[in-house]
Amino acid sequence: MTTTDLSREQTTAANLPDHDVSDLSLAPGGVTRIEWAEREMPVLRLIRERFEREQPLAGMRIGACLHVTTETANLMRTLKAGGAQVALCASNLLSTQDDVAAALVTEYGISVFARRGVDRDGFYRHLNAVADTHPHLTQDDGCDLVSLLHKERTDALEGVLAGTEETTTGIIRLRAMAADGALKYPVVGVNESKTKHMFDNRFGTGQSTVDGILRATNILLAGRHVVVAGYGWVGKGIASRMRGMGAQVAIVEVDPIVAIEAFMEGYQVMPGLDAAAWGEVFITATGNLHVFRKEHFERMANGAIMANSGHFDAEIDLVALNELAGGRVRQLRRDVKEYDLGNRRVYVIADGRLVNLAAAEGHPAAVMDMSFANQALAAEYGAKNHASLSPAVHVMPDEIDREVARLKLEALNVKIDTMTPEQERYIKSWQEGT
Ligand SMILES: NC(=O)c1ccc[n+]([C@@H]2O[C@H](COP(=O)([O-])OP(=O)(O)OC[C@H]3O[C@@H](n4cnc5c(N)ncnc54)[C@H](O)[C@@H]3O)[C@@H](O)[C@H]2O)c1
Repeated sequence: MTTTDLSREQTTAANLPDHDVSDLSLAPGGVTRIEWAEREMPVLRLIRERFEREQPLAGMRIGACLHVTTETANLMRTLKAGGAQVALCASNLLSTQDDVAAALVTEYGISVFARRGVDRDGFYRHLNAVADTHPHLTQDDGCDLVSLLHKERTDALEGVLAGTEETTTGIIRLRAMAADGALKYPVVGVNESKTKHMFDNRFGTGQSTVDGILRATNILLAGRHVVVAGYGWVGKGIASRMRGMGAQVAIVEVDPIVAIEAFMEGYQVMPGLDAAAWGEVFITATGNLHVFRKEHFERMANGAIMANSGHFDAEIDLVALNELAGGRVRQLRRDVKEYDLGNRRVYVIADGRLVNLAAAEGHPAAVMDMSFANQALAAEYGAKNHASLSPAVHVMPDEIDREVARLKLEALNVKIDTMTPEQERYIKSWQEGT
């Protein structure tokens, strides 16, 4: 029997876990895609095998609010293998893969509350359904579950021992809560592990953002003027992959150090208003509000295409764009809306929601392998250490980060050197000099 078979449940309609998904009959397609992703996730598989033996999450209820994708499905299987009872809802209205949601319910015995294209009310109904399970551990991608538990569902707050957070925007929100003294339990900042942000945010979002824009529009990138707003980990990935496709790339930044970095990487660096007139494709990746707004839309050329890869759909001011268009908006392709500004038409992909997840399948599994290895280990770390952790954002120990990297290298069959004893001594000493 393979590991895959081991974690599949013999479910019948009568013993399905609680759920609200679009269509359970999509499950078989979901299973094959989950298994396809698993092939690219050897580190997570090793952790799952250890979890099966050691049961580090036995008796734990986990409430997760993550993008419901094939990679997340493999994380859910890992948590369950570790002994946890898991309930999952989506962290975005448009990122749920309905076949995966169905498969998790019927084949893997996970409670899932997620449908692609759900409205805001439905999104919060799903979040509340996870809170109803009174989790001991929370897993967030953007801090929505933590936020709900602290603001509206304090009945479910007391039993929470610890949480984990996947993304930069969530970490920023959690640190703000901790600074206000509002955060009531410790959260392990998965994003802060090097084996997460240096790879997932950069190479994962870089590739999948290009993928989302191409699936949505099928435009030629070669020679095109592409503006990337925000040159953090995500922006760096997008800019380099866009350049790799032959695009001419300009960066919009507010941080002078990051701006020099972009400049010395050979990108044009310019203010947003200049970029608005220069660009043809605009991508936001700042985690900030209204990065492109009325004054930018007024300068954009006919045919300009906008997309967002930051966490929230707040980076492109769609209310202002809608007003400028006087409501003359039409759905042109599945994920493309056209805004008729009178003398020009501009386009927005996936309503400004994370383009890589809404218009494509999110990050490739090979990179989520490391992110979700960190998520699984963070859940174990939180379960073990919650009593000694303060209610703040905690970074996992460096040894765990290095272990994830070591396992990934091993899986990739990449060998590296070790220091000689002489080098070990030299690097730690201060006596030797010129
Ligand atoms: N789409 C995905 O799958 C995905 C994956 C990882 C992270 N994210 C999200 O992407 C966003 C960026 O993440 P990151 O890890 O790159 O963060 P980061 O902090 O490394 O980078 C953000 C950059 O944006 C810049 N910035 C802030 N406000 C700006 C403005 N008004 N104009 C121009 N630049 C501005 C900052 O100076 C910073 O350099 C976050 O919201 C994060 O949660 C999305």
